[in-house]
Amino acid sequence: MRIIAKATDAAVWSAAMRREGRSIGFVPTMGALHQGHLTLVARAKAECDAVCVSIFVNPLQFNNPDDLRHYPRQLEQDRGLLTGAGCDMLFVPEEASIFQEHSPRLFDLGGQDNILEGPSRPGHFQGVVNVVERLFHYIRPDAAFFGEKDRQQLAVIQHVAHTLHWPERIVPCPTERAPDGLALSSRNLRLSPQERAVAPVLYQCLQSVAGSAFREPVTSAKEHGLRLLRAAPSIRLEYLEISDPLSLEPLVDWGDRTEAVALVAAWLGPVRLIDNVTLHKR
Ligand code: PAF
Repeated sequence: MRIIAKATDAAVWSAAMRREGRSIGFVPTMGALHQGHLTLVARAKAECDAVCVSIFVNPLQFNNPDDLRHYPRQLEQDRGLLTGAGCDMLFVPEEASIFQEHSPRLFDLGGQDNILEGPSRPGHFQGVVNVVERLFHYIRPDAAFFGEKDRQQLAVIQHVAHTLHWPERIVPCPTERAPDGLALSSRNLRLSPQERAVAPVLYQCLQSVAGSAFREPVTSAKEHGLRLLRAAPSIRLEYLEISDPLSLEPLVDWGDRTEAVALVAAWLGPVRLIDNVTLHKR
């Protein structure tokens, strides 16, 4: 596996792949890799000839300095995992290299930054899109693989890619879960054993919403989930919403949809976790 730190060298690698007629699959990450990331790498390997993974803890997307400071960093371990997963190129840009000659742009996010994650994380999605645009600029992937766990991030990137006619194919990949249902996330590393034991309640809450989705009114489906969360007082809920699967706009009724999505964000001690499940009309 090649390791590249300079953005311009990454562009040279990408051009060489193209010259050889190899398609490029790209998995952007912030490191502290887990099985969820490795599944994205496996998918990229299955669909493309060469795979690049980036590890960059992007300061532009952290609105909480404490979260940025404590974000887990474990490059040596990540490197071993990626070698084992058959990654061809690991891109670990320095901030100065990735943002050289670049002033942050204000992207049209289609109003997505005003809902769900948006109000409590001002500037977060602009930060995500700015770095993704820079990474795409250097790597020029054919396809980029994103986990559905960060459903709103995925929707924002799909929106921008669509409206700006980005040539990259954005590939959504299902959430990977621990056996007890907790969605895999780098932030799980920061949970204490007690918090880790409580954390699966988030998934149970989403499952109980799914159990009554489309059979009961939206508010009462939501109430099933809220009841479970109230029974776990160490969880501080930020939101539980049932939303349109494309716009992610929270719903007050099901309308004539056959699909929706339930999304939750909550704090366990100092750690903020998010999760979501798709709801189907059966
Ligand atoms: O999902 C992440 O890890 C990050 O938001 C991403 C897409 C790598 C951008 O920094």
